[in-house]
Amino acid sequence: MNAREREQYLREYSILKGQGKPFFPYAVAKDSMMAAITIGVIVLMAILFGAELGPKADPTTTTYTPRPEWYFFFLFELLRVIKPPELVFLATIGIPTLCLVLLLVLPFFDRNPERHPLRRPIATVAGVATIAAMAYLTILGAVAGAPTEIDLATAPQYEEGKEITASSGCLGCHKIGENGNTLGPNLTEIGNRLGKDAIARTLINPTSPMPSFRSLQDDKPEQFDKLVEYVASLKGEQ
Ligand code: HEC
Repeated sequence: MNAREREQYLREYSILKGQGKPFFPYAVAKDSMMAAITIGVIVLMAILFGAELGPKADPTTTTYTPRPEWYFFFLFELLRVIKPPELVFLATIGIPTLCLVLLLVLPFFDRNPERHPLRRPIATVAGVATIAAMAYLTILGAVAGAPTEIDLATAPQYEEGKEITASSGCLGCHKIGENGNTLGPNLTEIGNRLGKDAIARTLINPTSPMPSFRSLQDDKPEQFDKLVEYVASLKGEQ
Protein backbone atom coordinates (compact mmCIF):
# COMPACT_ATOMS: atom_id res chain seq x y z
CA MET A 1 0.00 0.00 0.00
CA ASN A 2 1.48 3.38 -0.89
CA ALA A 3 0.90 6.59 1.01
CA ARG A 4 -1.95 7.78 -1.21
CA GLU A 5 -3.86 4.49 -0.98
CA ARG A 6 -3.30 4.51 2.73
CA GLU A 7 -4.73 7.97 3.12
CA GLN A 8 -7.74 7.06 0.99
CA TYR A 9 -8.31 3.92 3.01
CA LEU A 10 -8.18 5.82 6.31
CA ARG A 11 -10.58 8.43 4.98
CA GLU A 12 -13.10 5.79 3.84
CA TYR A 13 -12.66 3.98 7.10
CA SER A 14 -13.47 7.04 9.24
CA ILE A 15 -16.54 7.86 7.10
CA LEU A 16 -17.85 4.30 7.39
CA LYS A 17 -17.07 4.22 11.08
CA GLY A 18 -19.08 7.41 11.58
CA GLN A 19 -22.07 5.85 9.84
CA GLY A 20 -21.79 2.51 11.64
CA LYS A 21 -23.24 1.21 14.84
CA PRO A 22 -21.10 0.28 17.84
CA PHE A 23 -20.21 -3.39 18.39
CA PHE A 24 -21.87 -3.31 21.79
CA PRO A 25 -24.81 -3.69 22.04
CA TYR A 26 -25.80 -4.08 18.33
CA ALA A 27 -23.51 -6.87 17.06
CA VAL A 28 -23.47 -8.57 20.45
CA ALA A 29 -27.28 -8.68 20.53
CA LYS A 30 -27.44 -10.09 17.01
CA ASP A 31 -24.86 -12.79 17.77
CA SER A 32 -26.53 -13.72 21.05
CA MET A 33 -29.90 -14.05 19.36
CA MET A 34 -28.47 -16.30 16.62
CA ALA A 35 -26.63 -18.42 19.22
CA ALA A 36 -29.82 -18.83 21.25
CA ILE A 37 -31.76 -19.88 18.13
CA THR A 38 -29.06 -22.43 17.18
CA ILE A 39 -28.99 -23.95 20.67
CA GLY A 40 -32.80 -23.99 20.73
CA VAL A 41 -32.93 -25.89 17.42
CA ILE A 42 -30.37 -28.44 18.69
CA VAL A 43 -32.30 -28.96 21.93
CA LEU A 44 -35.56 -29.28 20.03
CA MET A 45 -34.09 -31.83 17.61
CA ALA A 46 -32.63 -33.81 20.53
CA ILE A 47 -36.08 -33.89 22.18
CA LEU A 48 -37.94 -34.76 18.97
CA PHE A 49 -35.52 -37.23 17.35
CA GLY A 50 -33.37 -38.35 20.28
CA ALA A 51 -29.58 -38.55 20.21
CA GLU A 52 -28.35 -41.78 18.66
CA LEU A 53 -25.65 -43.57 20.61
CA GLY A 54 -25.17 -46.48 18.21
CA PRO A 55 -24.61 -50.09 19.23
CA LYS A 56 -22.75 -50.84 22.42
CA ALA A 57 -18.97 -51.11 22.02
CA ASP A 58 -17.77 -54.71 21.85
CA PRO A 59 -14.14 -54.98 22.99
CA THR A 60 -13.88 -58.62 21.90
CA THR A 61 -14.71 -58.04 18.25
CA THR A 62 -11.99 -58.79 15.72
CA THR A 63 -13.92 -57.62 12.68
CA TYR A 64 -14.63 -54.02 13.57
CA THR A 65 -13.71 -51.61 10.82
CA PRO A 66 -12.74 -48.27 12.27
CA ARG A 67 -13.89 -45.34 10.14
CA PRO A 68 -13.58 -41.65 10.92
CA GLU A 69 -16.46 -39.18 10.80
CA TRP A 70 -16.99 -37.82 7.28
CA TYR A 71 -15.36 -34.47 8.03
CA PHE A 72 -12.12 -36.27 8.85
CA PHE A 73 -12.08 -38.29 5.62
CA PHE A 74 -9.48 -36.00 4.06
CA LEU A 75 -7.05 -36.59 6.93
CA PHE A 76 -7.90 -40.29 6.87
CA GLU A 77 -7.15 -40.44 3.14
CA LEU A 78 -3.88 -38.57 3.65
CA LEU A 79 -2.89 -41.21 6.17
CA ARG A 80 -4.03 -44.00 3.87
CA VAL A 81 -2.03 -42.87 0.84
CA ILE A 82 1.13 -42.35 2.88
CA LYS A 83 2.15 -45.97 3.40
CA PRO A 84 5.74 -46.02 4.81
CA PRO A 85 5.55 -46.04 8.63
CA GLU A 86 8.36 -43.43 8.90
CA LEU A 87 6.14 -40.93 7.09
CA VAL A 88 3.02 -41.48 9.20
CA PHE A 89 4.17 -38.66 11.48
CA LEU A 90 4.18 -36.35 8.46
CA ALA A 91 0.60 -37.28 7.51
CA THR A 92 -0.91 -37.16 10.98
CA ILE A 93 0.89 -34.17 12.49
CA GLY A 94 3.31 -32.63 9.98
CA ILE A 95 1.09 -31.58 7.08
CA PRO A 96 -1.96 -30.50 9.14
CA THR A 97 0.23 -28.46 11.50
CA LEU A 98 2.04 -26.83 8.60
CA CYS A 99 -1.31 -25.85 7.06
CA LEU A 100 -2.58 -24.38 10.32
CA VAL A 101 0.63 -22.39 10.85
CA LEU A 102 0.38 -21.04 7.30
CA LEU A 103 -3.22 -20.00 8.03
CA LEU A 104 -2.15 -18.36 11.29
CA VAL A 105 0.57 -16.23 9.68
CA LEU A 106 -1.56 -15.45 6.60
CA PRO A 107 -2.42 -11.88 7.74
CA PHE A 108 1.30 -11.16 8.15
CA PHE A 109 2.45 -12.11 4.68
CA ASP A 110 -0.71 -11.28 2.73
CA ARG A 111 -0.86 -7.48 3.07
CA ASN A 112 -2.71 -6.87 -0.18
CA PRO A 113 -5.25 -4.00 0.23
CA GLU A 114 -7.51 -5.39 -2.53
CA ARG A 115 -10.62 -7.24 -1.39
CA HIS A 116 -12.21 -8.34 -4.64
CA PRO A 117 -11.40 -12.05 -5.27
CA LEU A 118 -10.57 -11.42 -8.94
CA ARG A 119 -7.98 -8.82 -8.04
CA ARG A 120 -6.27 -11.24 -5.64
CA PRO A 121 -5.33 -14.08 -7.94
CA ILE A 122 -2.80 -15.79 -5.67
CA ALA A 123 -5.03 -15.83 -2.58
CA THR A 124 -8.04 -16.89 -4.65
CA VAL A 125 -6.18 -19.69 -6.43
CA ALA A 126 -4.65 -20.89 -3.13
CA GLY A 127 -8.05 -20.86 -1.40
CA VAL A 128 -9.84 -22.65 -4.23
CA ALA A 129 -6.99 -25.18 -4.54
CA THR A 130 -7.14 -25.93 -0.79
CA ILE A 131 -10.89 -26.50 -0.89
CA ALA A 132 -10.57 -28.62 -4.06
CA ALA A 133 -7.79 -30.72 -2.51
CA MET A 134 -9.80 -31.28 0.66
CA ALA A 135 -12.91 -32.16 -1.33
CA TYR A 136 -10.93 -34.59 -3.50
CA LEU A 137 -9.34 -36.29 -0.47
CA THR A 138 -12.73 -36.40 1.29
CA ILE A 139 -14.32 -38.17 -1.69
CA LEU A 140 -11.41 -40.61 -1.98
CA GLY A 141 -11.61 -41.27 1.76
CA ALA A 142 -15.37 -41.83 1.56
CA VAL A 143 -15.20 -44.35 -1.27
CA ALA A 144 -11.97 -45.99 -0.08
CA GLY A 145 -12.22 -49.68 0.46
CA ALA A 146 -12.33 -50.70 4.07
CA PRO A 147 -8.91 -50.85 5.73
CA THR A 148 -9.81 -54.54 5.89
CA GLU A 149 -8.98 -55.05 2.26
CA ILE A 150 -6.22 -57.11 0.69
CA ASP A 151 -4.60 -55.51 -2.34
CA LEU A 152 -2.72 -58.63 -3.52
CA ALA A 153 -3.70 -60.02 -6.92
CA THR A 154 -5.41 -63.38 -6.59
CA ALA A 155 -6.37 -66.24 -8.86
CA PRO A 156 -10.16 -66.11 -9.51
CA GLN A 157 -10.93 -69.28 -7.54
CA TYR A 158 -9.52 -67.69 -4.36
CA GLU A 159 -11.21 -64.31 -4.82
CA GLU A 160 -14.09 -65.15 -2.47
CA GLY A 161 -11.73 -66.57 0.14
CA LYS A 162 -9.76 -63.34 -0.06
CA GLU A 163 -12.87 -61.27 0.71
CA ILE A 164 -13.71 -63.53 3.65
CA THR A 165 -10.15 -63.36 4.98
CA ALA A 166 -10.09 -59.59 4.60
CA SER A 167 -13.32 -59.16 6.54
CA SER A 168 -12.49 -61.70 9.25
CA GLY A 169 -10.11 -59.46 11.15
CA CYS A 170 -6.88 -61.32 10.31
CA LEU A 171 -5.37 -58.01 9.12
CA GLY A 172 -5.72 -56.63 12.63
CA CYS A 173 -2.69 -58.76 13.52
CA HIS A 174 -1.22 -60.19 10.31
CA LYS A 175 0.27 -58.62 7.25
CA ILE A 176 -0.88 -59.95 3.88
CA GLY A 177 1.06 -58.15 1.15
CA GLU A 178 1.04 -54.42 1.91
CA ASN A 179 -2.05 -54.59 4.14
CA GLY A 180 -2.39 -55.40 7.80
CA ASN A 181 -0.41 -55.18 11.00
CA THR A 182 2.63 -56.88 12.46
CA LEU A 183 1.39 -58.26 15.76
CA GLY A 184 1.34 -61.81 14.37
CA PRO A 185 3.57 -63.40 11.74
CA ASN A 186 3.41 -62.11 8.16
CA LEU A 187 1.10 -64.35 6.14
CA THR A 188 2.15 -63.19 2.66
CA GLU A 189 4.10 -66.42 2.04
CA ILE A 190 2.49 -68.65 4.65
CA GLY A 191 1.40 -71.16 1.97
CA ASN A 192 5.04 -72.11 1.45
CA ARG A 193 5.30 -73.26 5.04
CA LEU A 194 1.84 -74.45 6.08
CA GLY A 195 -0.69 -76.56 4.24
CA LYS A 196 -4.46 -76.25 4.47
CA ASP A 197 -4.75 -78.67 7.39
CA ALA A 198 -2.12 -76.89 9.45
CA ILE A 199 -3.77 -73.52 8.81
CA ALA A 200 -7.21 -74.87 9.72
CA ARG A 201 -5.73 -76.32 12.94
CA THR A 202 -4.17 -72.93 13.80
CA LEU A 203 -7.51 -71.19 13.24
CA ILE A 204 -9.38 -73.60 15.49
CA ASN A 205 -6.71 -73.98 18.16
CA PRO A 206 -4.60 -70.84 17.95
CA THR A 207 -1.86 -69.73 20.29
CA SER A 208 -2.92 -66.67 22.30
CA PRO A 209 -3.41 -63.78 21.53
CA MET A 210 -4.82 -65.04 18.23
CA PRO A 211 -8.57 -65.61 18.69
CA SER A 212 -10.12 -68.96 17.76
CA PHE A 213 -12.17 -69.07 14.58
CA ARG A 214 -13.91 -72.28 15.64
CA SER A 215 -17.27 -70.51 15.61
CA LEU A 216 -16.76 -69.54 11.98
CA GLN A 217 -16.13 -73.20 11.15
CA ASP A 218 -19.22 -74.24 13.11
CA ASP A 219 -21.53 -71.55 11.74
CA LYS A 220 -20.28 -71.13 8.19
CA PRO A 221 -18.11 -74.12 7.27
CA GLU A 222 -18.04 -73.15 3.57
CA GLN A 223 -16.69 -69.70 4.37
CA PHE A 224 -14.17 -71.23 6.72
CA ASP A 225 -12.91 -73.59 4.00
CA LYS A 226 -12.66 -70.78 1.46
CA LEU A 227 -10.70 -68.69 3.96
CA VAL A 228 -8.30 -71.57 4.63
CA GLU A 229 -7.86 -72.27 0.91
CA TYR A 230 -7.04 -68.62 0.28
CA VAL A 231 -4.52 -68.41 3.13
CA ALA A 232 -2.89 -71.66 1.95
CA SER A 233 -2.62 -70.17 -1.56
CA LEU A 234 -0.49 -67.27 -0.30
CA LYS A 235 2.97 -68.06 -1.64
CA GLY A 236 4.39 -64.56 -2.03
CA GLU A 237 5.19 -62.78 -5.30
CA GLN A 238 5.56 -65.18 -8.20
C1 HEC B 1 -5.49 -60.83 17.76
C2 HEC B 1 -4.49 -61.02 16.77
C3 HEC B 1 -4.68 -62.08 15.69
C4 HEC B 1 -5.74 -62.25 14.84
C5 HEC B 1 -7.01 -61.43 14.77
C6 HEC B 1 -5.39 -63.34 13.98
N1 HEC B 1 -4.18 -63.82 14.33
FE1 HEC B 1 -3.22 -65.39 13.42
N2 HEC B 1 -1.74 -65.24 14.80
C7 HEC B 1 -1.59 -64.26 15.74
C8 HEC B 1 -0.36 -64.46 16.49
C9 HEC B 1 0.18 -63.58 17.58
C10 HEC B 1 0.23 -65.64 15.95
C11 HEC B 1 1.51 -66.30 16.40
C12 HEC B 1 1.13 -67.26 17.51
C13 HEC B 1 2.34 -68.05 17.94
O1 HEC B 1 3.16 -67.47 18.63
O2 HEC B 1 2.40 -69.22 17.55
C14 HEC B 1 -0.65 -66.11 14.90
C15 HEC B 1 -0.40 -67.21 14.10
C16 HEC B 1 -1.09 -67.52 12.96
C17 HEC B 1 -0.72 -68.54 12.00
C18 HEC B 1 0.48 -69.43 12.11
C19 HEC B 1 1.64 -68.65 11.53
C20 HEC B 1 2.96 -69.38 11.58
O3 HEC B 1 3.91 -68.74 11.09
O4 HEC B 1 3.01 -70.49 12.09
C21 HEC B 1 -1.63 -68.50 10.99
C22 HEC B 1 -1.66 -69.37 9.74
C23 HEC B 1 -2.58 -67.46 11.31
N3 HEC B 1 -2.23 -66.88 12.50
C24 HEC B 1 -3.65 -67.12 10.50
C25 HEC B 1 -4.63 -66.20 10.88
C26 HEC B 1 -5.81 -65.95 10.09
C27 HEC B 1 -6.11 -66.60 8.75
C28 HEC B 1 -6.55 -65.03 10.79
C29 HEC B 1 -7.91 -64.49 10.43
C30 HEC B 1 -8.94 -65.43 10.17
C31 HEC B 1 -5.80 -64.70 11.99
N4 HEC B 1 -4.65 -65.44 12.01
C32 HEC B 1 -6.21 -63.78 12.95
C33 HEC B 1 -2.48 -63.22 15.98
C34 HEC B 1 -3.69 -63.09 15.36
